[in-house]
Amino acid sequence: MTHKDKVVIFDTTLRDGEQSPGATMSHSEKLEIAELLDDMGVDIIEAGFPIASEGDFEAVSEIAKRSKDATICGLSRANFKDIDRCWEAVKHSKRPRIHTFIGTSPLHRAIPNLTMDEMAERIHDTVTHARNLCDNVQWSPMDATRTEWDYLARTVEIAIKAGATTINIPDTVGYTAPRESADLIKRLIAEVPGADDVIFATHCHNDLGMATANSLAAVEGGARQIECTINGLGERAGNTALEEVVMAMRVRGDIMPFETGVDSTKLMHISRRVATVSGFAVQYNKAIVGKNAFAHESGIHQDGMLKNAETFEIMRPEDVGLTETNIVMGKHSGRAALRSKLKELGFDLADNQLNDVFVRFKALADRKKEVFEDDLIALMRDQETGEAHDRIQVKFLRVICGTEAPQSADLTLTIDGEDHQTTAQGDGPVDATFNAVQALFPHDAHLQLYQVHAVTEGTDAQATVSVRMEEDGRIATGQSADTDTVVASAKAYVNALNRLLVRREKSDPDADVKQVSYKDAG
Ligand code: KIV
Ligand code: ZN
Repeated sequence: MTHKDKVVIFDTTLRDGEQSPGATMSHSEKLEIAELLDDMGVDIIEAGFPIASEGDFEAVSEIAKRSKDATICGLSRANFKDIDRCWEAVKHSKRPRIHTFIGTSPLHRAIPNLTMDEMAERIHDTVTHARNLCDNVQWSPMDATRTEWDYLARTVEIAIKAGATTINIPDTVGYTAPRESADLIKRLIAEVPGADDVIFATHCHNDLGMATANSLAAVEGGARQIECTINGLGERAGNTALEEVVMAMRVRGDIMPFETGVDSTKLMHISRRVATVSGFAVQYNKAIVGKNAFAHESGIHQDGMLKNAETFEIMRPEDVGLTETNIVMGKHSGRAALRSKLKELGFDLADNQLNDVFVRFKALADRKKEVFEDDLIALMRDQETGEAHDRIQVKFLRVICGTEAPQSADLTLTIDGEDHQTTAQGDGPVDATFNAVQALFPHDAHLQLYQVHAVTEGTDAQATVSVRMEEDGRIATGQSADTDTVVASAKAYVNALNRLLVRREKSDPDADVKQVSYKDAG
């Protein structure tokens, strides 16, 4: 039997991923993703940044209370107030961890305006303080890969002496390359006193498209914790994708003898859920979880696949939880069949929820010849995003479009229970529809993103539309699916608007606060 070293999987979808502008998740969405991560066997969940907002604090506390096997970690800057707040949130977990960080590179040191000695003292004091609260403390020198070697080694030694149990080496701006990533970890382990007593972690960003390679190289250099996110979600080009490192170590265990506790058959489902709740769609050709990752279109490929699947496949679709895309239901399918298919797709519904979905499923089956698994997933997303108590709802829409501009939209919205109707024109049917929404419900929110994806093949396919809007630093994402792209667009726009209204009422600037406080890392 070959011995494989365990690599700890530290998921930061709910912190680094959610921090990415536009990826803000609601409280219940965060709880759901945390539960999926825990069930999938992720070792550590970084659930948020408790000092960033009341919402973050509540989410981290609740995730800590509900956690089963995973360690629950919170992020804090290098000051006592942050660390105390972080502890207040994670302490409810059976396995709490405090993660504290400070930027150590020359550019980052300039932000809090500390000398090297002052920063060294701050690291000692804050790690000691965290360790007095919690026996599981992670310390990160932010922008480690652009920090002078001597200073990096010095600060790592201080953090270890002060009681840090995990030392994370972030490649904050995605600057390093595989050989350098491996060498840095190897050298830290070899030269820093006390390094053998802690776990070294790697935290890579993907600005040069090397995050997965850099993380795996760091493991070869001696790191035993990889920090990553589902779908590689994260600021700018994102973080290391969890599904990529997990499957790489599994498929190439022959040259990378490491194992993780992750149940890879749950990857596809969580990937879809994170794409939905964050509003960041997965690119079709994304490794492991992309729609085309297991599609074999060309004649040569199909021929080879029919003879032997291994001709072009290094892993089986079912290894990542991908079941055959087949015609699952039609208009004669009953409630029980729908419930069981949805359960298979990861949606466990109470009776009243099932009734609502069933009505919508029947309406879809009337319009569409064949209803595929992806259609059901889109239907579920739509169910979750459009809430019955939303202030604004789309009641009626008819557009007139054709080769002659302008196009026009006749729209009725129900706003706070009352119907309002208008006709507006625009440059295309979607523009006309959005202008009609603006006329009926004047607002200052700006459209930041408008995306359309066909859920399945064929001209009767449903379109999933994602809309991201911004108002006074608050960002909200709306989604909807319909066989009519313009209807889906109207509903997605109104959905984003409703979410912005909720944030405005709660006066929770969410993502904006996180950006500001994260940068002020001192
Ligand atoms: O990228 C980074 O440096 C971070 C730290 C807070 C660990 O996310
Ligand atoms: Zn990061």
